Amino acid sequence: MAIQRVGVAGCGLMGSGIAQVSAAAGFETVVREVSAELVEKGLKGIEKNLNCLAEKGTITDAVRGEIRARLKGTTAIEDLKNCDLVIEAIVEKLPAKRELFGALDVLCPPPTIFASNTSSLTITEISAATKRPQRFVGLHFFNPVPVMKLVEVVRTIATDAAVYEEMVAFGAKLGKTVVRAHDSTGFIVNRLLVPYLLDAIRALEEGVGSIEDIDNSMKLGCGHPMGPLTLLDFVGLDTTYYISQIMFEEFKELRFVAQQLLKGMVLAGWNGCKAGRGFYDYSDPQNPKAMKF
Ligand code: CAA
Ligand code: NAD
Repeated sequence: MAIQRVGVAGCGLMGSGIAQVSAAAGFETVVREVSAELVEKGLKGIEKNLNCLAEKGTITDAVRGEIRARLKGTTAIEDLKNCDLVIEAIVEKLPAKRELFGALDVLCPPPTIFASNTSSLTITEISAATKRPQRFVGLHFFNPVPVMKLVEVVRTIATDAAVYEEMVAFGAKLGKTVVRAHDSTGFIVNRLLVPYLLDAIRALEEGVGSIEDIDNSMKLGCGHPMGPLTLLDFVGLDTTYYISQIMFEEFKELRFVAQQLLKGMVLAGWNGCKAGRGFYDYSDPQNPKAMKF
């Protein structure tokens, strides 16, 4: 089956990026959010990115217009009905994802392929909410989606081999490098990345270094594009907190335990860049200031 029409559930950090690259790759793309305000916010972010690309001459004004014309925002789940592929990028909570896919399973015709962008839940447990586990994969993109080159394509023991290969080809059509991963919590990247990020918070809590010094150490000492505390703000502290809980539940290893500081920040709503405050204060986005705890 040739994919022509792509649905995206969620137009936050990840869903907006996925919708952008899908439309840019030539797919008719419909992205669903829970409120008109969030649809508008997500689409505005995409338009801003496309304008940047046009200003830099990466795409022409005509191409920008074509990409935008292929994108539709909606609050109605019914608008995902005629998609050949639906990619979910909503909150990292199993009940929410299962509820959404249960509803999509009733709505979408049997050939529609389902994919989750989950960071840490297993694809198997999400797909079990549907009657089509054979047409269910993980498509794990990285933030910011338009820039990061990788997508992990994840198969479960139930995924049909032809569906899996179609999704590998779809990842390549989006211009991504595909890695193949089995359905293990955190797949490849987060299994390695999440303990590192949580360790950076532990180092901060134990007074090993300041926020700036921990970040600069990994940037300048190891050549990382961002220090770990900046990256935590970028990923979202709420999302990281949910991921750590899911990974600890699975592996029962201390390296996946969320610290009090992380929990406290999430409870206070200091969720990182998207909330204007995390390990840094983003009141002046061009010049973030390290928080004092
Ligand atoms: N959306 C779209 N484009 C963006 C962007 C965004 N949010 N942020 C930056 N860009 C673009 C810029 O426009 C620029 O494009 P050009 O090269 O065409 O000019 C390019 O990216 C580089 O940007 P900047 O020069 O402004 O800044 P930079 O060189 O510091 O790069 C960065 C920014 C790409 C985000 C870089 O800092 C980086 O790679 N950071 C690490 C990101 C990372 O590790 N992501 C993975 C997170 S983990 C995850 O996603 C998995 C999970 O499940 C949690
Ligand atoms: P986010 O909070 O920025 O966005 C999630 C969006 O989903 C919100 O805007 C919310 O309103 C919307 N939503 C909730 N329920 C919905 C529903 N039923 N239908 C449509 N929209 C709904 O979160 P995010 O960072 O974009 O993360 C989304 C998913 O992607 C999570 O599973 C996360 O683990 C995963 N992920 C995140 C990152 C990252 O760096 N943040 C990277 C890779 C994967």
